[in-house]
Amino acid sequence: MRPLLITILVFAGILLLPYAVPTSPDRELNATQLRQEAAGHNLHPIPRTREGLLHLVDTADNPLTPEKIALGKRLFFDPILSRDRTVSCASCHILQEGGDDNRPAAVGYKGRVNPHHLNSPTVLNAALERYEFWDGRVHTVEEQAGGPIQAHFEMNLTPREAVERLRSDRSYREAFGQVFGENNITFANIRRAIGAYERTLLTRGPFDAFLEGNDTALSPAQKRGMTLFLERGCAGCHAGTSVGGQFVKRFPLRRYWDDYLGFSLFPKFYWKRSEFPFDNVGDFHGRDGHDFFRVPVLRNIARTAPYFHNGAVKDLHEAVRIMSKYQLGREFTPAEINDTVTFLKSLSGKPVDYGYERE
Ligand code: HEC
Ligand code: HEC
Repeated sequence: MRPLLITILVFAGILLLPYAVPTSPDRELNATQLRQEAAGHNLHPIPRTREGLLHLVDTADNPLTPEKIALGKRLFFDPILSRDRTVSCASCHILQEGGDDNRPAAVGYKGRVNPHHLNSPTVLNAALERYEFWDGRVHTVEEQAGGPIQAHFEMNLTPREAVERLRSDRSYREAFGQVFGENNITFANIRRAIGAYERTLLTRGPFDAFLEGNDTALSPAQKRGMTLFLERGCAGCHAGTSVGGQFVKRFPLRRYWDDYLGFSLFPKFYWKRSEFPFDNVGDFHGRDGHDFFRVPVLRNIARTAPYFHNGAVKDLHEAVRIMSKYQLGREFTPAEINDTVTFLKSLSGKPVDYGYERE
């Protein structure tokens, strides 16, 4: 009898060990310390001036000019780039709705649903990402823009067809001529123009005002949430001015016994159907199928539900709980989740007017 009891106790001890290790209390950070910590994760404010914008997003490959941005804007909203002329970039990236479509999975050409049930990410601030798409396979908005035009479930047009359509339109011939020179309607230039417009789609909210020195831009709860975000490690992955988009990371990082074994009156054992803490709708496993995903941009996150690559989670509180448990290994309490969610709301903002529309 004894050895059995000892074995059981030893096993119980091992299982309970993680709960016995005391967790370090959080430091209280004042406003100055919060700003310093934020800067340490490259969490910088979005510029308010055109000079600041150009410093951040202008590239030698695709220099920004008012004419190019205006052309890109027109293309972004024009369904001419889809086979049946019904779908534009703006169909799935609605700027007034946080830059996405608020659906779990994107719906494109002839009502076709994304084959992997992928959720449309926001285009707002996407120009600041180092990795784009849920598996992080492209690196610039110019490169990205060619994808949806060709995808048979999005806009479904070949590059040749796209170019021919625009060449046969006099006003596009003129506009391209003005920006890229005569006879220069090419697929690369279509991508450049759209990319140029996307580079101006940056948003500012209370978070930016706080980083610039306005102590009252965030409420006490938001400051507590920001402390958790920085101190517990969210900012280690969701870093950079866009608060995301800089890394590709494994998700879920941690696994738990109780996700695989269920206990009730009678012990029941089952294999988990999903390795994600939500339904594996669409069966997408990120980069090379190994569950590596581009860390999403959290700017405007409160406006871009549902969440995660397949849009399986509706509530931001649940998304934060999942992150704390599976990415940090320390599940937030309900109060901590509330503070974090209120902090995340300070990342919502309006597109900044850099004055290009008036030129
Ligand atoms: C049918 C809906 C749909 C249309 C139309 C569409 N997109 Fe998307 N967009 C998506 C989805 C879904 C993804 C994620 C796809 C993936 O990861 O494979 C995405 C990803 C993106 C991203 C990357 C964002 C990030 O954080 O990874 C950008 C930028 C973007 N789209 C811009 C555009 C532009 C520009 C157009 C028009 C040329 C366009 N989209 C047309 C649904 C759409
Ligand atoms: C180890 C890196 C890592 C850490 C740490 C991390 N995240 Fe994430 N986060 C990710 C990845 C990767 C995804 C995308 C997973 C997916 O959709 O499959 C994600 C997704 C999210 C989403 C959903 C985004 C969307 O557009 O659907 C939210 C919200 C979020 N994280 C918030 C947080 C918060 C709050 C914390 C801290 C409690 C945190 N994250 C910690 C890597 C991380």
